[in-house]
This record gives sequence, structure tokens and C-alpha cells, in this order.
Amino acid sequence: MVQVRPPLTRTPEWQALRDHQARLANVHMRTLFREDRERFHRFSLTAAGLQLDYSKNRIDRTTPELLAALATACRLPEAREAMFTGEAINNTEHRPALHTALRAAPDQDIRVDGTNIVPEIQATLDRMESFVGQVHRGERTGYRGDRMTDVVSIGIGGSYLGPRMMTEALTPYTRDGIRCHYVANIDGTDISEVLASVRPESTLFLVQSKSFGTQETLENSQLARQWLLDAGATEADLARHFVAVTANADAAHRFGIAEEAVFPMWDWVGGRYSLWSAIGLPIALTLGMDNFRRILTGARAMDEHFREAPLPENMPVVMAMLGIWYVNFWHADTHAVLTYDEYLKELPAHLQQLDMESNGKRVDREGHAVDYATGPVIWGGVGANGQHAYHQLLHQGTVLSPADFIIPLKSHNPVASHHATLFANCLSQSQALMQGKTEAEARKELEAQGLTAEEVDKLAPHKVIPGNKPSNTLVFDKATPEVMGALVALYEHRTFVQGVIWNLNSFDQWGVELGKQLGKPILQQLGDGISDEALDSSTVGLMRLFRGE
Ligand code: F6P
Repeated sequence: MVQVRPPLTRTPEWQALRDHQARLANVHMRTLFREDRERFHRFSLTAAGLQLDYSKNRIDRTTPELLAALATACRLPEAREAMFTGEAINNTEHRPALHTALRAAPDQDIRVDGTNIVPEIQATLDRMESFVGQVHRGERTGYRGDRMTDVVSIGIGGSYLGPRMMTEALTPYTRDGIRCHYVANIDGTDISEVLASVRPESTLFLVQSKSFGTQETLENSQLARQWLLDAGATEADLARHFVAVTANADAAHRFGIAEEAVFPMWDWVGGRYSLWSAIGLPIALTLGMDNFRRILTGARAMDEHFREAPLPENMPVVMAMLGIWYVNFWHADTHAVLTYDEYLKELPAHLQQLDMESNGKRVDREGHAVDYATGPVIWGGVGANGQHAYHQLLHQGTVLSPADFIIPLKSHNPVASHHATLFANCLSQSQALMQGKTEAEARKELEAQGLTAEEVDKLAPHKVIPGNKPSNTLVFDKATPEVMGALVALYEHRTFVQGVIWNLNSFDQWGVELGKQLGKPILQQLGDGISDEALDSSTVGLMRLFRGE
């Protein structure tokens, strides 16, 4: 088990980074690039089909060593081993966090309470394979004997974001004959729109819920059930249309889902780390089981790299430590994920949950309030669209938001010269963030346009772009299943490493519970009338509005 550590901000390694930041505070990246022609090669890494260029960061040759020293002082190698070997690193829920076991090689031996869990994982993959095959071959039919043409995945949070992102990312691998839809929100619009687009007799519902206790998922599943009954299915027919993925098989049975239609989840898999499990069924149904296994293979390659590569050459570690560098030493509160691939447009949302639910914490593993910043706001979107929207703030705003640019070398849709233009856009953005535009350059430009001296004086301050804004660029050949597995695993490990440095439990999420707890009495009072007079006036006022009082 990981031992108690000295207070983070009082370690000599932390202090060394503070001093180092002070030395670099007034150094411009333009100068760093000018002085070191090898910067791109020096600060580049490859792993599992991905190439990381981290040269456009506010670092010099000593920074990686200092960051690696902090990681070592925080016992990262020991923590990493504890995760891979199944120690109960989720210390508030007394469980391991073994999403890596879900993509482990079949001959690996990973033990939980003395039992090797790999055979059960492999058996579940085999069950998924046979189920997916039945659906694809048309052997799994609806209540009128039709083959299933549509799958509706009902789940929220980690039981939704990962599968949705992955099916979207790998759209070019979609199999003919089956369409996948997602329902997450308890806003009735979500399920209404989906149900309006499918036929009851050929629709398979996947109830995706680790706990099988999530209100949104259960209410939507009940509604789907009723929709089938209203369409003419009998109670007995429902078994043909419902499959569950859950760690709470009893609750799924009580809901009416047949024993053989329940796929297991395990308490040692966190929701936001679960797309590799049977929660990935929508992915496998959409892309085929062969492609699902390719995703696992890609993730495993990143796992092996993360477990074995020395810290300064370790991609998740380098990316995580650069994040620490900015959050803790440059006061960055946000981090942008900018995907230059239309199919990856859902990736920022998945990484947002992954990172913010994992490291949005205010006490350390021992329950002490931390005296340093932890997880930043993760946000982002797809380029080039973002360039015509929020990139302005990145270039000239007062907020420091380091960014990850993510782009394939080749497009799945190589039309005209689009991909070269997209690639140029991506490079010009990270270049602009890095170099900016000096006042002298701005003035020269304006003068060249023939403006008067007075006009130049007025406009120049608006045209200055400070630059020196950090970014990483992640490049890969094409968004294949292997690449996507590696990419998502990369960010999982990046999140884990930061959690280790901040001494957090990255695998619980107690903060989201309060809203759920308070939601129950509010819902009751919206229906029955306001009974809790001690409630705050805002909540009461808004409840009255809802009740039309
Ligand atoms: O409310 C947050 C959360 O607990 C997430 O961590 C989880 O992924 C999601 O809800 C869904 O939970 P479940 O899979 O148990 O329905």
C-alpha cells in the first residue's frame, strides 16, 4: 500500500519547481525556440501509435527533470504498480481501480481478494462476442420476429459518455444494418426524440448502469418498457428487447431483465473508466466485436508504455506533469482539449467527466484539506470551428488555458485539399499561441497598410498578442480503433498521475451525491406541495413557480 507522504508543497522538489518557474516567468517561448534548434526533437515522444510534441511549453531542458523528480518524490512508480496490481487504491470505497485489467492480455494474472479476475473478464468478452454476433446475424429478434435494427443505450455519466464518444470517433468502422442511439438525460426530449426515430418491434434496449440505481436511467428505462407495452408487446415479450449491464444483477432482475441478458460490471471498475467493459456493448454492436477488441489492444499498448517507460519518456507522465506545472506553478485553472477531427467531437466531453469527476477534489487521501490547486476545468471542442469562437480568449484573454491539439495525419474523408487546410489551421493555432505578435510587429503591419501614425497608436494595443501560451500537439496516422484505445488510455493515466501528485483518491465521486440526495425531497414536494418550511427561499420560490402557485 502507498505510504503516507510528506506535505506536497513542502517537499524540496516542489520548492525547486517554484524557483524554476520564477526563472522562466519572463522567458518567451520564441527565445527558447530560437536558442535551441533541436527543441521539437528534444521534446517529442512516441507511444502506442501516438506522437506527442510538447515543445511549445514554457519549459527548458531542466524542467522535465524537475517534474520527474517531483513525480518520484510523490512515489508515482509505487502508486502506478499499486493500481496495476489491484491494491485497494480507491481508499474511501475500499476497492481497487482495475480498468487496466479489462484490456489485459488473456494470460495475465491480476488478483482481487486472491482470485484472478482475468478469466472472468475474458469470459465476459466472449459472451459479448456471441451476443453481438446473434444481433448482427439477425438471430436475436423482437416480439414480432423482426431482426433488431436499432439499439438504444440508456445510461448516463460514465455509462454513456465513453461509449457515445467511441462509437462517434470510429464512425468509419460502423457496421451496416444496426444503428445505435443514446438516451442519457431525464429531460423527456432526449428519449422522445430517440423513440420517435425507431420502431418498437426491432429495437433493443441496453440498460447501462453500474449501480442500477440511477434515477435518470431507471425512469428512462421504465418509459421504454411502457412504450413497448403500448405498442403491443406483452410482459413476456420484453425479455427479448432488454439487456442490462450492471454490477447489481438483482436490481436488473427485479426490473424484469432475464438472468442471461445481464452482463456483469464489477465494483473495481469506475463508471468513467468503464467503456472497456460490457458497458462498451453499444460500441461492439455498432462497430463489431473485432473492432472492440482492437480498441482494447490499443489501450493495452498504452498501459504497457505507462507501466514500463522511464518517467521522463513516459507520455501520460509527461502530459500529467506538464498539467501540474501549469495548474500549480502558473495558476492555470482550465485545460482545453481541441480535436482537429470531426469524428472526435465528443472526446472533450468524455475527458471532462474522466478528469473532473476524478480530480475535482478538495481533500487528500487522508481527508486533509489540500493547500494547492487540484483538477482544472476541462473543456474543448472541435477545430477548426473553435478558432472562430473561443480561441480568441486563448490568444488574448486574461485566462491561462494550456491546450492539447489532437490531429490525425490522414483523414477518413480525404476530400479536395481539406485535410491539408485543417492541418495548417491546427499548426497555425499552436504557433500563434506560442509566438504571438509583438507590438513592433503589430505596428509594422499597420504602417504597411498605410494607416496614419495616430491610427497606428490607437490600434496597435488591440493587435498585440502576447503569445507564450502553452500547448501540446498529439498526432497519429489515422483515428483507428487501436489509436482511439491508446488515446483514451493516455488520458486515463494522465488523470491518474495527477491524482497521485495531488494525493487524491481519483476513483470516488462523493460530490455528486449531495444533489442526488436533495433531489428526492424536492421531487416529492413538487408533486405533493411544499412541506419543508425550513427550506431556503430560493428553492421554495422556484418550486412554487413550478407548481403554478
Ligand atoms: O452521478 C455520477 C455517477 O455516479 C457517475 O460516476 C457514473 O458514471 C454515473 O453516475 C452513472 O452511474 P451508474 O452507471 O451507476 O448508473
